[in-house]
Amino acid sequence: MADNVGNKPSKEYHLDIPVQTEGFFLKGLNNNDFGLKNRLSRIFQPKSGNAVVLAFDHGYIMGSTAGLERLDVTIAPLAPHVDVFMGTRGAIRSCFSPTMHPAVCLRATRDSSVLYDDMSVGNGCGVEMEDAIRMNASAVAVQTFIGAQGEADSLKTLCSYVDAGNRYGIPVLGVVAVGKEMERTAKFFLLATRILAEHGAHFVKTYYCDDFEKVTAACPVPIIVAGGKKLAEDEALAMTYRAIQEGAHGVDMGRNIFQSEDPTAMAQAIAKVVHEKYTNKQAYEFFMDTKKK
Ligand code: R5P
Repeated sequence: MADNVGNKPSKEYHLDIPVQTEGFFLKGLNNNDFGLKNRLSRIFQPKSGNAVVLAFDHGYIMGSTAGLERLDVTIAPLAPHVDVFMGTRGAIRSCFSPTMHPAVCLRATRDSSVLYDDMSVGNGCGVEMEDAIRMNASAVAVQTFIGAQGEADSLKTLCSYVDAGNRYGIPVLGVVAVGKEMERTAKFFLLATRILAEHGAHFVKTYYCDDFEKVTAACPVPIIVAGGKKLAEDEALAMTYRAIQEGAHGVDMGRNIFQSEDPTAMAQAIAKVVHEKYTNKQAYEFFMDTKKK
């Protein structure tokens, strides 16, 4: 206990300095609690306001995927170049060191595998929030199927995670699923991203599309974009640049990084666009100069 005798009296109350009350750096998230904002600040870098999330959760529905056969060999070396690892608890616990630098965005839902015709059926809770906390997750990712047969179940699942996330201070990433019957248009993404945010997702993952600035404008919380199927490096960088220019707060990218001819150089080039305002042309030059010759 501090000694209470002979202490200097307090006198400097800095009455001339107003308390800083400006909002949190991420849109729509100022009215959350300290722990949730602290975790969000591990995902989105306060300096740029953006995030480079490396997604390698494909195996939870697709099994072994090109580039992900050995996560310890292909993904672990990318850790210094990204802000967040997005994967399943099985992959993260078994393949990485807990001393790693990236924050963890834990794939939390269970979904039907690619062997099933309709992947929207069967969605539910795959990881209890207790285990997400045990893994020190900075966010949980929840797949949601808007406009599909499994919509109601997946929204119920999303709401459960949002309730638990608000209770324990864990942000929820609402993932807009695309698949059979689901379009990749601004019309669909406007609807889906807004529905996820209105159900309480703290940030939302979707795909880039035409009129993307309307999608980001109408979503009250930050959006990050998935990469999708492997493109040529210059095309993936151009898509990332356009997404950032049009209001995305980063990427949640998998195949366009880990299937690149040089994943380390590509992760760094993507980070240049996301955090350092590089144009896609500058970032592609960086990639060409940096990749292994
Ligand atoms: C989405 O639900 C997947 O599991 C991936 O996280 C997502 O598609 C991002 O990876 P990619 O950039 O390879 O599409």
